[in-house]
Amino acid sequence: MPSISLQTALQSLPEVAGEPLVKDIFAPPFFKSLGFQQGETHPEYATGSSLSVDYAARKNDETDIFLHTKSNPHLLIELKGQDINLCEGSAGYRKTVAQLKGYLLDVHCKTVQWGLITNSVHIQLFRKHGKVIHPATACLEITPENADKLIASVRRQIEQPVKALTVAVYNNKGGVGKTTTTVNLAAILTLIGKKVLVVDCDPNQQDLTSSLGLAANEGDVSQALMSRNGDLRPAIKPFVVTYRAQNKEFSFDVIPADAKFVGEIDEVQLRQKLKPDSLRRSLDALKSEYDYILVDSPPNWRIFSQLAVYAADVVLMPTKHNNLFSLENAALAIKKFIPEAQQQRGDVTPIALPIFFNGERITLPQLAAAQQEIGNIIKMSRKENFDLVPYFYPRYTNARKDLHIFEVPSYANIASAAFSRIPATYRDKTARDYYLALAKEYFLQ
Ligand SMILES: Nc1ncnc2c1ncn2[C@@H]1O[C@H](COP(=O)(O)OP(=O)(O)O)[C@@H](O)[C@H]1O
Ligand SMILES: [Mg+2]
Repeated sequence: MPSISLQTALQSLPEVAGEPLVKDIFAPPFFKSLGFQQGETHPEYATGSSLSVDYAARKNDETDIFLHTKSNPHLLIELKGQDINLCEGSAGYRKTVAQLKGYLLDVHCKTVQWGLITNSVHIQLFRKHGKVIHPATACLEITPENADKLIASVRRQIEQPVKALTVAVYNNKGGVGKTTTTVNLAAILTLIGKKVLVVDCDPNQQDLTSSLGLAANEGDVSQALMSRNGDLRPAIKPFVVTYRAQNKEFSFDVIPADAKFVGEIDEVQLRQKLKPDSLRRSLDALKSEYDYILVDSPPNWRIFSQLAVYAADVVLMPTKHNNLFSLENAALAIKKFIPEAQQQRGDVTPIALPIFFNGERITLPQLAAAQQEIGNIIKMSRKENFDLVPYFYPRYTNARKDLHIFEVPSYANIASAAFSRIPATYRDKTARDYYLALAKEYFLQ
C-alpha cells in the first residue's frame, strides 16, 4: 500500500471503524509519525504470559532488527477499534489501561519505558519506570487537524533519554516514618546500583539532614528556588558510607534543608517569592542524572509540602494502622491535595502510590479495626464519586477480595539508627531486608 499521511488516514477511516480497519489504515502512518520505520514495530508481540500486546516498537541499530530479534522493546501499543470508547473514565478506557499495565509489567517487557493506548480517536501515553506506571499525557482527542502536532509531541517524549522517577514521601501527619522511609529507601536503592538524590524539603525540622549528620545549606536552595530556572547543583552534598558487609563505599547525593528559610520570612512573604513549581523546575534539570529523586516533606499542607508534591511524579505515603489521622490524611491527599497539584501543573502527575503501614506491631484484632476504618473512609469517598480502593487495597479485585496492605514492621534498630548518622539499611540485615521488600513492592520490576 502506498504510504499516506496521518491526516489522510484519519479522513479516510469510515465512521466507527473497527480494529482491523484502524490497524490497516491508521497504524502505518501513525508509527511513521512516531518515528518508527519498517522492521521497528512488531505486531502481536508476546509479552511473556500467554497474551500478546497489539504492537511493540524499538528503533533498530545496524545489527539488531527489532522485528527479527524481538529484543529490548521500548514502547508497547494497545490499539483498539473506534467501537471501543477510550474517553477517559469510560469502561472501555479503564479496561484498556488495565490491559496495557498488565503487558507493561510482563516478563519480556523490562526494558519498556512507554505504553500507548489509542483507537485513532483518543490517545494517551504512559511512562513506565521500573514497576511504576504513570500517565505522561492526558487522554487526548486526535483530529485530522491536530494529529501531526499531537503525535510529534508524543514522539518527542518517547525519544527523550531516561529520567529519574521523582518520589515525594508525604503524609500530613508527623511521626509516621516519612524521613526514615526516605533515608532507607535511598540507601537500599543505592546498594542495588541506582543513582539517587535525596531532598530534605523540611527546613523547619531538618530531620533528614541531621539524621545523615550533614550540615544544612545556607542559602543555596533558597537562591535556586527563588530565581527562574535556578541551579540546585551548588546545594548538593554527597553522603558517603563504607558498607561493611561488602567492604565497599556507597554514596548518594543529598540536598540538605536550607536554614535560610527558617524564621526569616513568614509564609505569606515566602509564597510571593517561591512559585509552586520552583522545586519541580529546578529538579527537572537534574532528572537525567539520577534514577530516583526522593523528596522528604513536612507533616502539613503548607508551602514546602506543596513544593515537594508538585515536584513529584508519584507520592508515597507511610501511615500507621492505629492512627486514624494518618489514614484520613492519606485519603485527603489522594482526593484533594494531589488533584490540586495536577491542576496547578496543568498536568497528569503526581499520582498517589498505594499507602503502606509503617513501624507498628499489628495484631489480628488491630488489623480488623484498621480495615473497618479504611472501609468507612472508602465508603465516604464513594459518595463523592472517588474510588479509593486501589490506593488502600491495590490487590483487590471483584474476583479476589484481597485486603493486603504492604507493611514495614516495627524494628528497634531502625529507630536507633538515626543517632548513629548511618541509615539502618547499611548497618543491619533485617532493616535491609525490610527496605528491599519496600523497594520491590513499589519500584523495582
Ligand atoms: N519501621 C520502623 N521501626 C521502628 N521505628 C521506626 C520505624 N519507622 C520510623 N521509626 C521511628 O519513628 C519515629 C518517627 O519517624 P520519622 O521518620 O521521623 O517520621 P516523620 O518523618 O513522618 O515525622 C522516629 O523515631 C523513627 O526512628
Ligand atoms: Mg520527618
